[in-house]
Amino acid sequence: MLLQLSGIWKEYQIDEQVVFTALKDINLTIDEGEFTAIVGPSGSGKSTLMHLIGLLDHPSRGKIKIRNKDITILNDDEISTLRSEFVGFVFQSFNLINKLTVLENILIPTIYARKKLDYNPEEKAKYLIERFGLQGKENSYPNKISGGQQQRVAMARALIMDPKLILADEPTGNLDTKSGNEIMKLLKELNKTDRRTIVIVTHEADIATQTNRLIKMVDGQIVKI
Ligand SMILES: Nc1ncnc2c1ncn2[C@@H]1O[C@H](COP(=O)(O)OP(=O)(O)OP(=O)(O)O)[C@@H](O)[C@H]1O
Ligand SMILES: [Mg+2]
Repeated sequence: MLLQLSGIWKEYQIDEQVVFTALKDINLTIDEGEFTAIVGPSGSGKSTLMHLIGLLDHPSRGKIKIRNKDITILNDDEISTLRSEFVGFVFQSFNLINKLTVLENILIPTIYARKKLDYNPEEKAKYLIERFGLQGKENSYPNKISGGQQQRVAMARALIMDPKLILADEPTGNLDTKSGNEIMKLLKELNKTDRRTIVIVTHEADIATQTNRLIKMVDGQIVKI
């Protein structure tokens, strides 16, 4: 077991007191090496769940365990450290910094690293650039490369810290079919060859069927498919 959520609730405060319940009693175990797709209608809580899995947000109630260790008792500082080493994120809109080059974008997480890295970040970045077919783009700026290439830069950035878990919220949502398929090919490879655990959110049925586990959310709950 890599990650376990039990009895997770997430409530959002809207005005001072109006509360919206985005997650209702979520119980979910993710094992090492799984490649999971989360599907469900807009507003069903998929991104909220991803934020909790990725330690970007706290649940209102419930327990999150990583490798059997309860992380809901950690303080913010400890959670940040754990997140930076354990999770790599890929977003629908790439979230690259336009003022930085491809290489600089990929290196961002290493600048904020809280522990000494046992590898050379630049060498690792260059390896990822090569692996993700971005050779020659090292010094380009994000707005000068294609969407598919931008997403591959985002993937390299997500991997620079060598995370166990990769979370991707609609990674192909802003891409044409061909670029989307390239991203899926890389994700599948990272899962198969590197044994990384991957969770993606998608609206596209043919993307979801390429994973080996499907979770459907409706109205803040996981439902049987
Ligand atoms: N910060 C917030 N404050 C109040 N309500 C929120 C907040 N974030 C999300 N919500 C609400 O929680 C519900 C779940 O949102 P979430 O973003 O998780 O949905 P989603 O399944 O990812 O949808 P989509 O497919 O459109 O991305 C929605 O009704 C949303 O409006
Ligand atoms: Mg979402």
